[in-house]
Amino acid sequence: MSIKDKLDTNNIPEHVAIIMDGNGRWAKQQGHVRLFGHTTGVESVREALKAATEVKVKYLTLYAFSTENWNRPKEEVDGLMDLLVTTIANEIESLNENDVRLDAIGNLSDLPENCQAELKRAIERTSKNKGTCLVLALNYSSKFEMKTAIKEIAQKYKNGEIELDDITDHLVSDHLYTAGIPDPELMIRTSGEVRISNFLLWQLAYSELHFTPTFWPDFKQEDFYQAIYEYQNRERRFGLVSEQLNDTE
Ligand code: IPE
Ligand code: IPE
Ligand code: MG
Repeated sequence: MSIKDKLDTNNIPEHVAIIMDGNGRWAKQQGHVRLFGHTTGVESVREALKAATEVKVKYLTLYAFSTENWNRPKEEVDGLMDLLVTTIANEIESLNENDVRLDAIGNLSDLPENCQAELKRAIERTSKNKGTCLVLALNYSSKFEMKTAIKEIAQKYKNGEIELDDITDHLVSDHLYTAGIPDPELMIRTSGEVRISNFLLWQLAYSELHFTPTFWPDFKQEDFYQAIYEYQNRERRFGLVSEQLNDTE
């Protein structure tokens, strides 16, 4: 029996975000170079996406490359960019078959030209799909995202377009890359690291966090369902006390 069958279909998170971590350590464990871990990790992306579409998660955000990751050895960075380009190109057909829409967040204009072009093409070619939206976080930094939002809002205030009181949670959210996307109810990080690594700092304010020791290349559909199962068995209190949540009157 799959854990999927134990899920409450009325309580599926709308948005699940994943920090796909542990490719390098997984590869090393197998006696391979780090890049082999990244290549194998693509299969786990398919697994997570398949699971998300099966249970009708509306948004699946995958942290694929952070702004800090540019500082890795050149051959790894080049390998990751090549992998990104070929994977996006190869997957368009399958995304369309599964009604998946592709989107991306991050400082995309600083990605290599061919990567930007491939991404743009895939986003356009899947734009009419109505199923799960797969959001790739590429050259992403949450601090940069927030800094940019602060600058834009400050500029609008300076221009007299908004008053101080117009600066609400909603307005801030609208100035982030994720504008229009609900905050993730669930964030998963693989590989045993227990940190956020500059990912969605604003958006994760009230997310349930799920940390698993599994390295990303070993992550399968069942692991995704397991995370949702555990999420469904948590009590999200949002600052209230338990009795208030269970008070049905
Ligand atoms: C995650 O795996 C993928 C990226 C950051 C691009 P890592 O490459 O960070 O693998 P570890 O954490 O070194 O094992
Ligand atoms: C976070 O993983 C970034 C991605 C998964 C793309 P890292 O491996 O870069 O994070 P740290 O260095 O362990 O914090
Ligand atoms: Mg890592």
